[in-house]
Amino acid sequence: MPLLTVKDLSLGYDGCRVIENLNFSINEGDYLSIVGENGSGKTTLMKTLLHLQKPISGEILVSDGLKPDEIGYLPQQTLVQKDFPASVWEIVLSGCQSSMGLKPFYGKKEKVLAEKNMELMGISDFKNRCYRELSGGQQQRVLLARALCATKKLILLDEPVAGLDPVVTQQMYETIKELNASGITIIMISHDIASALKYSSHILHIGKEVFFGTKAEYLKSNKGFAFSERELRTGGCQTELSFREVKSYA
Ligand SMILES: Nc1ncnc2c1ncn2[C@@H]1O[C@H](COP(=O)(O)OP(=O)(O)OP(=O)(O)O)[C@@H](O)[C@H]1O
Ligand SMILES: [Mg+2]
Repeated sequence: MPLLTVKDLSLGYDGCRVIENLNFSINEGDYLSIVGENGSGKTTLMKTLLHLQKPISGEILVSDGLKPDEIGYLPQQTLVQKDFPASVWEIVLSGCQSSMGLKPFYGKKEKVLAEKNMELMGISDFKNRCYRELSGGQQQRVLLARALCATKKLILLDEPVAGLDPVVTQQMYETIKELNASGITIIMISHDIASALKYSSHILHIGKEVFFGTKAEYLKSNKGFAFSERELRTGGCQTELSFREVKSYA
């Protein structure tokens, strides 16, 4: 059984539909990139997958092997979050909450996990600094370390490289690739179409028409061809890759 199956899902707000009759499934070890224009419903879909929001209709089926406390989430950054008045340590540790059950305090296990993920993201030196005083790239690494504390099988990332410089962007992609290689399933929203095509195994393109399939199928489809070519030509990607290179990933 797939890790996650979406069946005839319709999403929206106050009866206004953003996505209609969406169907796709994701298996353990897949790396799914969700692409599409601003406002097409990518974040709404991710929040619905996390049960933070209710669908208008349809179902999300989850395999028996996936528990809610095995899923990490890196939300799309908002201006309010950028101003959050907590220390780096507090924010990363808070990622352990979902697996603590009814325990009121963080124990040794949670602290060791938080330290390990701070190390992995190269932010141990900022441990006692206030989150809002960090740069955008440093903040993003703090949020990824936090998400990693909750990740055992699946991680959902909403635009993890938004606002990052090319070097940090590349490091972030490599970290996500290593997570995937270690067996973690990835679902990532991205406007960086070139990197989505480079790193992922599957593409979900939402908008007026929907595409779901492997990246090779996407590149062969008219939709994938038109979208990736346009994005690459208009600089919608954050990595310097030519369209020819991207086609070679198929
Ligand atoms: N809380 C809300 N109440 C009402 N409408 C909302 C709400 N959140 C989002 N929307 C609307 O739903 C649509 C989809 O929004 P969503 O944030 O899912 O888009 P997105 O694909 O993630 O866009 P972006 O690429 O800009 O992040 C938009 O038209 C948006 O205005
Ligand atoms: Mg969004």
